Amino acid sequence: MEGRTMTKMLHICVTPRGAKSRTLKITNTFLETFKKRHPECEIDTIDLFSEKLPENSLAVTDGKYLLMAGGEISDRLKPAWQEIERHIARFLSADICLISCPMWNFSIPYRLKHYIDIIAQPMDALGADVMLERITASQNEAKRLAESL
Ligand SMILES: Cc1cc2nc3c(=O)[nH]c(=O)nc-3n(C[C@H](O)[C@H](O)[C@H](O)COP(=O)(O)O)c2cc1C
Repeated sequence: MEGRTMTKMLHICVTPRGAKSRTLKITNTFLETFKKRHPECEIDTIDLFSEKLPENSLAVTDGKYLLMAGGEISDRLKPAWQEIERHIARFLSADICLISCPMWNFSIPYRLKHYIDIIAQPMDALGADVMLERITASQNEAKRLAESL
């Protein structure tokens, strides 16, 4: 990602505490520096505690197993999969993601696990490569910013 223009960040907000949130205080400090380095970058925020996430219903899990077996989402499953595909497209439309997430019971808040279960679906080689690239770019940017502080 070094030298490449970043046009979009997906900020995944995983605390319900809004203005009271300690995590978001850290996020805001990070973003102040990030915005100076990347003034061109649009920031799309998904608030996982107010966003209505699709359930991992029978239709959604049936679709996942179909894809794992090399098949395609059938017409019967398409309505249930529309929202899943919308979330995957939103995630992949960003060059980089920032996750604002406290520790809950030695793990992540359940809403982040729900989100991961939605966007982590069997994909072709291109989709998997793109997702890996986004995650690596996010890690690299965080490292560069931390080093410059
Ligand atoms: C349901 C819940 C579980 C928590 N579990 C842990 C934990 O296992 N370990 C820990 O160090 N803090 C735990 N905390 C404390 C939060 O991680 C900590 O207060 C954090 O700063 C909250 O972030 P926020 O202000 O952005 O919501 C927990 C808080 C809540 C609400």
